[in-house]
Amino acid sequence: MALWPFTSTLFLCLIASMASLSDSKAFSFEENFVITGAKENFKASPDGQVWHLYLDQQKGCGFQTKQRYRFGWFSMKLKLVGGDSAGVVTAYYMCSDLDAGLKRDEVDFEFLGNRSGEPYTVQTNVYMGGVGGREMRHMLWFDPTTDFHTYSILWNFHRIVFFVDRVAIRVYSNNGKPNGFFPHEKPMYIFSSIWNADDWATRGGLEKTNWKNSPFVSTYKEFGLDGCQWEDPYPPCVSTTAKHWWDQYEAWMLDDDQLEDFVWVGRNLVIYDYCKDAERYPVLPEECSL
Ligand SMILES: *[C@@H]1O[C@H](CO)[C@@H](O)[C@H](O)[C@H]1NC(C)=O
Repeated sequence: MALWPFTSTLFLCLIASMASLSDSKAFSFEENFVITGAKENFKASPDGQVWHLYLDQQKGCGFQTKQRYRFGWFSMKLKLVGGDSAGVVTAYYMCSDLDAGLKRDEVDFEFLGNRSGEPYTVQTNVYMGGVGGREMRHMLWFDPTTDFHTYSILWNFHRIVFFVDRVAIRVYSNNGKPNGFFPHEKPMYIFSSIWNADDWATRGGLEKTNWKNSPFVSTYKEFGLDGCQWEDPYPPCVSTTAKHWWDQYEAWMLDDDQLEDFVWVGRNLVIYDYCKDAERYPVLPEECSL
């Protein structure tokens, strides 16, 4: 159990070759995103509001925002690959500039496919300066392949909170001091992608992707963003005058209802937490005590 996937999104971060979607009428997509990977594996609905990413044996696909953001609320509705999706990973994540290379910061949602009828796992992870290894894995309380559900990231100087349908499933805290674990300096792009990861994704790589079921399709809609767009030279992105809701005191912690849900998720749905993995981390990372 010691080997967890460290390579997952690094690869995509680095290969993200950009192509613009100039031939699409999808207003919101065109405004905000570019396709990464195989252009022919991206399809939009006729009204441009629903986006499909295809994975076949040759290639996957993804998209990323044109802009970078530092702090804010980032949200998307996803419907994941249905049926036998073992080996397939759909990701929705934020990642800092490609120029940063191996020193990137990253905040990830990764959805690990499974055999038909078996539950999906959601893996979340946080990287700072190229160092990740902060995985948590959760079961969901619904089947994410039959309907759209909302997956969101709240990011301010104090917290990174992962939400599923407005239930906080993970809270990752800063200690307010210079540290090596809480990404906050580098602005990030938002990415989404689908790829084959049957070397690790399902039962540690034992379950291989069944290409007879390809193409595998993940579907996206209603991208929502309320964040601080990065400009050069950059603005501070947090100011006492701007009063972004996601940066206010209330957004530094969970309210009572959120806390109740969060505790329930923690008791019932967590299947892996790196902070409890003493075999892997004989000395637990400092953020685990927050
Ligand atoms: C797949 O389903 C099995 C059986 O319920 C579960 O133990 C496992 O965690 C699931 N794997 C993934 C990657 O979701």
